[in-house]
Amino acid sequence: MKTFIANLPKAELHLHIEGSFEPELMFKIAQRNHIKIPYNSVSAIEEAYKFNCLQDFLNIYYQGAGVLVTEQDFYDLTYSYLQKCADQNVRHTEIMFDPQTHTDRGVAFETVINGISNACEDAKTKLNVSSLLIMSYLRHLSEDAAFKTLKQSLPFKDKIKAIGLDSSEKGNPPSKFKNVFEASVKEGYIPLAHAGEEGAADYVWEAIDLLGIKRIDHGNNALQDEKLVQEIIQRDIALTVCPLSNTALRVVDDLKNHPLKKMMDLGLKVTVNSDDPAYFGGQVNKNYEAIQEALNLSKNDLYQLAKNSFQYSLSEENKKQEYLNELDIFYNNNK
Ligand code: ADE
Ligand code: ZN
Repeated sequence: MKTFIANLPKAELHLHIEGSFEPELMFKIAQRNHIKIPYNSVSAIEEAYKFNCLQDFLNIYYQGAGVLVTEQDFYDLTYSYLQKCADQNVRHTEIMFDPQTHTDRGVAFETVINGISNACEDAKTKLNVSSLLIMSYLRHLSEDAAFKTLKQSLPFKDKIKAIGLDSSEKGNPPSKFKNVFEASVKEGYIPLAHAGEEGAADYVWEAIDLLGIKRIDHGNNALQDEKLVQEIIQRDIALTVCPLSNTALRVVDDLKNHPLKKMMDLGLKVTVNSDDPAYFGGQVNKNYEAIQEALNLSKNDLYQLAKNSFQYSLSEENKKQEYLNELDIFYNNNK
């Protein structure tokens, strides 16, 4: 199974670039920017990366992102993640970035977007990995702040495919961002959002009804509401599920109790993703391996998950078809 997963062509649809920041690179960038970080050893990091909930993690995650200053920093961070994609046969990736985490520290939007998108362009030619960008609004901040970010993004519209909504879910419902999502869609961005990770099913309803999202990040708590499940299936909206993130943040107590297989059996379109791999113990292939083992998934289940990852990606139809053909050839030769 491990070899099957390693060679399975796949796409990653839920990945925060700031969450891919491995300690080794963080140390290096902190040093070159003369910024102090509160860890001086791998064991200090391991101790800090024990979380009880989403907010515990976010506090550490924003602190880590605080060492990113120059365009080169954003380039190095992104290229390092894309190299890992190439190593894992991730053929396509849809990368979220949180501009406000950086612009609020005085880093220009332009610095962030140019560093990230130049790395994506280089990875296409040098690593044969395709990618697109999802600009995420931080939901613990105001809708006005999101509007400001939308405005800053407009000169770089051609580099951004979609918008997302992330950070602290509880107490920050999708309805808070209805107007900025509407304005973003008018600008041509595709709407996506985290929903039902810690928030209840009514936040998922709001995300699909009020924000009109085309894909749900996480969506675990949608299972609390049968009518919602049927609605998601009917609207053909996929869920980007993140198994190791769910156990690290205690959304799920044990991988053996993870609802992924149940979701598939209900007819939901599910994909497997790493979310914040540097913080949650593994890249996307490790997520496939762990969930395969915990739920005893078959090769056909894994094939379905990879198929969904291409099918529900935001890439162009012809590109999608090429990847799906590549996947079918692999599966027919390895099942
Ligand atoms: N930002 C980075 N990872 C996140 C997650 N799992 N949920 C919400 N916001 C995030
Ligand atoms: Zn996420």
